[in-house]
Amino acid sequence: MTDLPTTDLPKTLDVAKIRADFPILQPLQTASDGIERRLVFLDSAASSQHPTQVLDAMNKVYETGYANVHRGVYQLAERATNAYESGRTKIANFIGAPEAAEVIFTKNATEAINLVAGSWGRANLGPGDAVLITMLEHHANIVPWQMLAEEKGFEIRWVPVNESGELILTDLDRLLDGVKLFSFTAMSNVTGTLTPVRQLVDAAHAKGALACVDACQAVPHLPVNVTEWDADFVAFSGHKMLGPTGIGVLWARRELLEAMPPFLGGGGMILNVTTDGFIPDGIPGKFEAGTPPIAEAAGLGAAVDYLSALGMDAIRQHEIELTAYAMRSLTEALGEGLTIHGPSEPAARGGVLSLTLDDVHAHDISQVLDEKAVCIRPGHHCAKPLMRQFGVSATARASLYIYNDRDDVDALTEALVSARDFFAL
Ligand code: ALA
Repeated sequence: MTDLPTTDLPKTLDVAKIRADFPILQPLQTASDGIERRLVFLDSAASSQHPTQVLDAMNKVYETGYANVHRGVYQLAERATNAYESGRTKIANFIGAPEAAEVIFTKNATEAINLVAGSWGRANLGPGDAVLITMLEHHANIVPWQMLAEEKGFEIRWVPVNESGELILTDLDRLLDGVKLFSFTAMSNVTGTLTPVRQLVDAAHAKGALACVDACQAVPHLPVNVTEWDADFVAFSGHKMLGPTGIGVLWARRELLEAMPPFLGGGGMILNVTTDGFIPDGIPGKFEAGTPPIAEAAGLGAAVDYLSALGMDAIRQHEIELTAYAMRSLTEALGEGLTIHGPSEPAARGGVLSLTLDDVHAHDISQVLDEKAVCIRPGHHCAKPLMRQFGVSATARASLYIYNDRDDVDALTEALVSARDFFAL
């Protein structure tokens, strides 16, 4: 990287105030050298931490309003149903969905994409058809299509990426010929690459294909409006956006959801069942078989409130600034042995920094960093085709969020310098 990014963008979040809301960030960590340090959590692309507001919202359900939803008629059950449905309404507003009924609660983004494959895909794909995905995809947007292709006999095509982890779109129109669905990430979990979502959706529609967006890394970090994207399906997880595990979202256009068969069968998703068969419920119930994540929906609603109060534009600006600072600091401190995979321009990426440091294994780097209370993720990040293209089996990935600041980046840089020195590079 020759042109170092600028670092003089304005600071936009009061990180000290934000950090005070996160109980897990408060206690000092006694690292293996016996020194007490603050926790430097740089693994939010895997799972983010929780502010008190989210924990309180879930506790409130358990302490004052917990029962199963859409079943009991007693007051407690109504309170639980209201908490659950109010989570749905908040999420619909947060992503610009035309109506709350188009928000389907799933377990996570993986299940949301499996729902698209298992319901829409199984009903609409067959021999002679094609699904287009990209080399940036997480396994969650690869394997469901591979599983279904084995069963239904359609073709899977791949949009290539260049060495900077950017999509090569010169051949997109040809790749889209005969495609019924283009399913792509809005932001890579490995390189942070932002894809031109609206342009890709328009290209898919121009060829008569539907567009499915894996927005798992985008919704927590950028302003997202599914209507402005004009997408057909959008999937994301709660646990990467300050919410709890066990809840994710599939948003899709009403007419698609209404035409799709159910994904899972069971209680809660039917209008009627007889010995001859069943009649499915309308949306969203048709896709929410079994007892759903009740307190989690309230928690995710509180997470959305928290993010909205900060402002998604301000969050994005903060992450651009911090990414620019991190790229500059790391490059200056570690020199040529360091590779930061992905686009060199901070504004073209999210705050995900996948690093390789000469030939030191990412797991060894991560171990040394843990000794300094710096948490990063080593590994293939569930994106093996992309890693193979980069010629690496693993990277050390540091990912930034609203509670990270320049002190965290400095701790990362110092710990990486120690790791480099330890391995005597
Ligand atoms: N998908 C998560 C990650 O990239 C787990 O780390």
